[in-house]
Formats: sequence, structure tokens, C-alpha cells
Amino acid sequence: MKITKITVTLLTIAGLSAAAFAANLEPAEQIETRQAGYKFMSWNMKKIKANLEGNYSQAAVQGAANAIAGIANSGMGALYGPGTDKAIGDVQTRVKPELFTEPEEVGRVARDFIEAANDLVEVAALGDPDDVKTAFGDLGKSCKACHDQFRMDKK
Ligand code: HEC
Repeated sequence: MKITKITVTLLTIAGLSAAAFAANLEPAEQIETRQAGYKFMSWNMKKIKANLEGNYSQAAVQGAANAIAGIANSGMGALYGPGTDKAIGDVQTRVKPELFTEPEEVGRVARDFIEAANDLVEVAALGDPDDVKTAFGDLGKSCKACHDQFRMDKK
């Protein structure tokens, strides 16, 4: 019966971790969603860079930092479910196989990244551009650290 099925589904969802919940997305959607998250973070990184190089707007920098931290803290690991290690039809991926076989190392770079994103939020709220510059540099390094290990170069 349909109602029973929905109830069971809801109960199951309520009892499961974020990781399992996101598995409700099809693998191709998981790939597209994680790429969209990275792209959106990248856009916000560019905004912060432009602020540091030009007229500094605290509101703009804070908004961008908050957006990045929101994604960083959203549990993106859940978008690396089974079957998302390779292209699916037209949906390409640059993830390296190591991301699925070195969970401890992934956890380490991911934690560094989340910490750096949260730090940037803190200093952006205080509004000193020099501190923002340092925290921004650290965050950029944490993005790169993960890419060096777990993202393939562009073909
Ligand atoms: C924990 C690892 C990790 C961290 C941290 C990380 N990335 Fe990535 N990034 C990846 C992987 C893996 C891919 C490839 C995803 C795919 O193609 O499925 C990727 C892809 C991208 C892409 C290409 C997206 C697309 O359209 O295909 C951009 C841009 C990007 N990352 C920017 C960033 C920025 C900016 C940060 C930091 C603010 C960041 N990433 C942090 C692992 C990471």
C-alpha cells in the first residue's frame, strides 16, 4: 500500500545519516550536484579576490565567505556515492579513484578545508582585509590540496 510505503520511507530517512539520505539522488545527479557546489564556491572565491584587489566591501566578502562555508559544511561527501567514480552517459567526472579508496586522507583534507572555510567566515565578520587575505590564502590552499590528490587534471 502506498501510504505504508511512504511512512516506511520517511522513518528510514529520519533514522539515517546525511550520507545515506543524499544517496536518494541518482549517481549522475550526485556528480552534477557536487560539481555545481564547487563551481558556486569558485565564483564566491573570485568575488573575494576581486574585493581584496579592488574596493573592499565587507558585506560582499562576508556574503561570499558565508556561502562557501555553507557548502563546505553541507556534507558534500554524501555526493560521492557508489557509481559516481566514473562518467555516466554525458555526465563527466574528474574525480580520482583514490577518493574512494583513501577515506582517511580524504577526511583529513576535507577537515582542513572546512576549518579554513569557517575561519574565513570569522575574520570576514571582523572586517580587517589583511586578516581576510591570510584566511583566503589558507582556504585556497586547502582547495588545492584536495585537487592535487583527488581531482584529475583537465584533458
Ligand atoms: C575534499 C576535496 C575537495 C575540496 C576541499 C575542494 N574540491 Fe574542488 N573538486 C574536487 C573534486 C574531486 C572535483 C571533481 C568533481 C567531479 O568532476 O566529479 C572538484 C572540482 C572542482 C571544480 C570543477 C567543477 C566543475 O564544474 O566540474 C571547481 C571549480 C572546484 N573544484 C573548485 C573548488 C574550490 C574553489 C574549492 C575550495 C573553496 C574546492 N574546489 C575544494 C575536490 C575538492
